[in-house]
Amino acid sequence: MDASASASGVRRVEAPGTGRGALSLWLVDHPLVQHKLTLLRDRTTPMAMFRATVRELGLLLAFAASADLPRGERTIETPLAAMRAPVIDESRLLIVPVLRAGLPLAEAFCALMPTATVGHVGVYRDAHAHPVEYLVKLPPPPHAGPARCFVVDPMLATGNSAAHVIEVLLRRGVSLSDVRMVSLLAAPEGLDRLGRSFPGLSVHVAAIDERLDENAYIVPGLGDAGDRLFGTDH
Ligand code: URA
Repeated sequence: MDASASASGVRRVEAPGTGRGALSLWLVDHPLVQHKLTLLRDRTTPMAMFRATVRELGLLLAFAASADLPRGERTIETPLAAMRAPVIDESRLLIVPVLRAGLPLAEAFCALMPTATVGHVGVYRDAHAHPVEYLVKLPPPPHAGPARCFVVDPMLATGNSAAHVIEVLLRRGVSLSDVRMVSLLAAPEGLDRLGRSFPGLSVHVAAIDERLDENAYIVPGLGDAGDRLFGTDH
């Protein structure tokens, strides 16, 4: 076994850089995750396989990013005995895909947390990679506010869209400590941006790539995630 591998395949990384260092940054470097990420990076992977693989990665990332969900207990009866058994409060989970590329990740999160509510935030990048909001549809906050809010976007590039969505959530009363940002790939620039704006934010990623190119695409990356998911590339 690789000496650096953790038993769970998830490890906290201390990313250098003012902003990045301020994050609670978790790298999901489990062999299954890394293998599937390679499939996504490969330009010859066809759309159907790309989409299915993003969904599979969503399941694995949901597993990792939910590891610290608060647990309660309730009394149940097994066929043999009564016992106190652990439960999570599924009514207090919110999943927020950043449209449109976040949708298959959100489906995967919903598969594992079927009673979670889902809020949609639509943001596109203008010519300068600045976020332009075109839709916000969030469920009304439950009495005590969501216990956990997963913001899912496969690509954390400049971090501007993610920051926009997190700001929307904070304005609605979500507490930063309840937010989990979940992405497949991150650029150092995006992590830096989030760390500067939201010190202490918890971020789960499957890989941290080298840099952004002049069009704010992640290098080496996997290309345009939305286009490859939905077949809109030309
Ligand atoms: N969005 C993408 O889909 N790909 C990138 O590389 C950056 C942003």
